[in-house]
Amino acid sequence: MSGQPVVEFKQVSKSFGQRKVLDHVSFTVNEGEVLCILGRSGTGKSVTLKLMIGLLKPDSGSVLVGSEDISQLEGDGLAKIRRDIGFLFQSAALFDSFTVGDNLALPVKHFDKKHKSPKQIQTEVEDMLRQVGLEKDVNKLPSELSGGMKKRAGLARALVLNPKLLLVDEPSSGLDRITASEIDELLMKFNTERNTTMIIVTHDVRGARKLADKVAVLDEGNLVGFGTVEELDRSDNGLVRELISESQS
Ligand SMILES: Nc1ncnc2c1ncn2[C@@H]1O[C@H](COP(=O)(O)OP(=O)(O)O)[C@@H](O)[C@H]1O
Ligand SMILES: [Mg+2]
Repeated sequence: MSGQPVVEFKQVSKSFGQRKVLDHVSFTVNEGEVLCILGRSGTGKSVTLKLMIGLLKPDSGSVLVGSEDISQLEGDGLAKIRRDIGFLFQSAALFDSFTVGDNLALPVKHFDKKHKSPKQIQTEVEDMLRQVGLEKDVNKLPSELSGGMKKRAGLARALVLNPKLLLVDEPSSGLDRITASEIDELLMKFNTERNTTMIIVTHDVRGARKLADKVAVLDEGNLVGFGTVEELDRSDNGLVRELISESQS
């Protein structure tokens, strides 16, 4: 199912002050693939995702999304490419004073208002909510939802524009095991049905082993592992074997 490169890191370096977070990191994610990124806390996993949507710029190297170097884009060029990227960040909560439905309508109105009627937008929002099992919750406020439902609503918002690329930061954090597997199942469903390329930062090894076509392991600024789960099980790097080991979960 893999095709053209969707994301390419070429010799990407990023420091904050004296701290080198990424040191000449290179990897490629192809169309339709699911990449899971593992690593200890503070190893640059969230920074890696932020570089992919141009929220951060590399100090050197390039970050290609499709064929564009997103680190060189600004204004309209950046907005255009972000239209095709969905993201579900750990901290990117829903807007508390908006209903679930209005939270989903926001990106559609922002990007597609000119050629979609209010009725059409409402239909798309309802369709998307149905796909994550929240069709009955369209008029609820985020405060009325459980943790798992909030994640599903966030995922629905990230996917409502049918992005080519989905970035997800720690989807299972704060969720119990069963709820976390429900989120994994949803991600897998969308990957299969829409061939959405996905990059998922996670601590959940069980989920990663199930979802990932490829796994990347970051440590001290370096990509110490990159490959299929089977390849990383045989890595000669002890940390990589430990982080991917099923006994972690
Ligand atoms: N905007 C920022 N300004 C300064 N330091 C940052 C910024 N973003 C991340 N960092 C630092 O970069 C390192 C990696 O962060 P992050 O990617 O969030 O780690 P994680 O792998 O846990 O997601 C951490 O030391 C963090 O403090
Ligand atoms: Mg993080």
